[in-house]
Amino acid sequence: MAKGWTKSDWRAKPRVQMPDYPDMAALHAVEATLAKMPPLVFAGEARRLRADLAKVAKGEAFLLQGGDCAESFAEFSADNIRDTFKVMLQMAIVLTWGAKVPVVKVGRMAGQFAKPRSAPTEMIGGVEYPSYRGDIINGFEATMDARLPDPNRMLQAYTQAAASLNLLRAFSTGGYADIHRVQSWISGFTDEDEAAKYRKVAEQIAEAMDFMRAAGVTSETAHELGTVDFYTSHEALLLEYEEALCRIDSTSGLPVAGSGHMIWIGDRTRQPDGAHVEFCRGVQNPIGLKCGPSTTAEDLKVLMAKLNPANEAGRLTLIARFGAGKVGDHLPRLIQTVQAEGANVVWTCDPMHGNTIKSASGFKTRPFDSVLREVREFFAIHKAEGTIPGGVHFEMTGKDVTECTGGVRAVSDEDLSSRYHTACDPRLNASQSLELAFLVAEELRDRRALQKAANQ
Ligand code: PEP
Ligand code: CO
Repeated sequence: MAKGWTKSDWRAKPRVQMPDYPDMAALHAVEATLAKMPPLVFAGEARRLRADLAKVAKGEAFLLQGGDCAESFAEFSADNIRDTFKVMLQMAIVLTWGAKVPVVKVGRMAGQFAKPRSAPTEMIGGVEYPSYRGDIINGFEATMDARLPDPNRMLQAYTQAAASLNLLRAFSTGGYADIHRVQSWISGFTDEDEAAKYRKVAEQIAEAMDFMRAAGVTSETAHELGTVDFYTSHEALLLEYEEALCRIDSTSGLPVAGSGHMIWIGDRTRQPDGAHVEFCRGVQNPIGLKCGPSTTAEDLKVLMAKLNPANEAGRLTLIARFGAGKVGDHLPRLIQTVQAEGANVVWTCDPMHGNTIKSASGFKTRPFDSVLREVREFFAIHKAEGTIPGGVHFEMTGKDVTECTGGVRAVSDEDLSSRYHTACDPRLNASQSLELAFLVAEELRDRRALQKAANQ
């Protein structure tokens, strides 16, 4: 990886979207404390995810990335983690059924705390406050005091991430992820009248499971059926936190971000000469890069060269987020750039961030139909270009929230106020998430048919 790179080089580069801490002594004390803590993830795990993503790049696996827009200190609970984990497993089985390849599961969890904002201040009740930047930076409460950046929040974020990962590791291997159990949860969803249209698929999945069981393939005989690989990811926005958790991998001697398995660069912080690109280019984790409507072909070329100079498959994931109806204006030229460079990338679709609107009732929301439409456009364009749609990236929760409108158990504009809990962007609820998985599974069947035809 980047020769001569050091984990603090980003400090000499222009930085955006990061707080100016008023108390530098307190900041340095926190950085020193974090630098002594164990990393949250290990280099071998990040390498394994890279290898899994290399398969995604070739169409031999599919990526499911999902979780909160912003994790919060107040909403932190074992139940919340369990519920998001549970719905991701359900989605993964449905997607596996469609794609007939393994699904790589990556949570926006255990570190997804820092948020880029569209403006440095916001008006609340006629008063101008510094914007909320995520619980790792300042408080959500609308007071001047809460909105002051406090470096000690990094320690609480680290502790919460460690506890979250501990639970996720236990769920992944402790029997909770048993494939037969997950399959029965899916039947629970499709037993309900509104979800009847997905029942046939659920029955086919159940039949496949019954067949395996009859053939003697159970979690006792095949260990993989009772455990899953589950990875964590977040936007590497707060570089003081990232630097303090950066470690040298004892096997390769290379730097690795110890804050999560995969980190990504946001659409607002991808300046090719900026601080965020500088940090991310030096660590060996898989890197995500958000690509919004303003991404130029030239920028993408430079970014691919910086972030993946050896052109290794699995290193770089391009996360397209244009908005329904706009994918055709942007994705083809970026795909053509990637093809012209002969670059190995994973293409994934974030149908959330280009589809945020203000509802008539005043809540920030996302219509389920727009989310689905962007996913469909993403698949259609890859089909037309002959490239591989590698995955999906959702803001979602296992809770029964009312933040996005639509879905089979329709959430209306008026419903938004009843269970609107997000600290930042609106998330799909459990039912909307699973429904989307069924719909993406249909697209994946198509992808599979194309791949089969190409291999003949
Ligand atoms: C996000 O993923 O929460 C986010 C802020 O995305 P983007 O950088 O694509 O706007
Ligand atoms: Co978001």
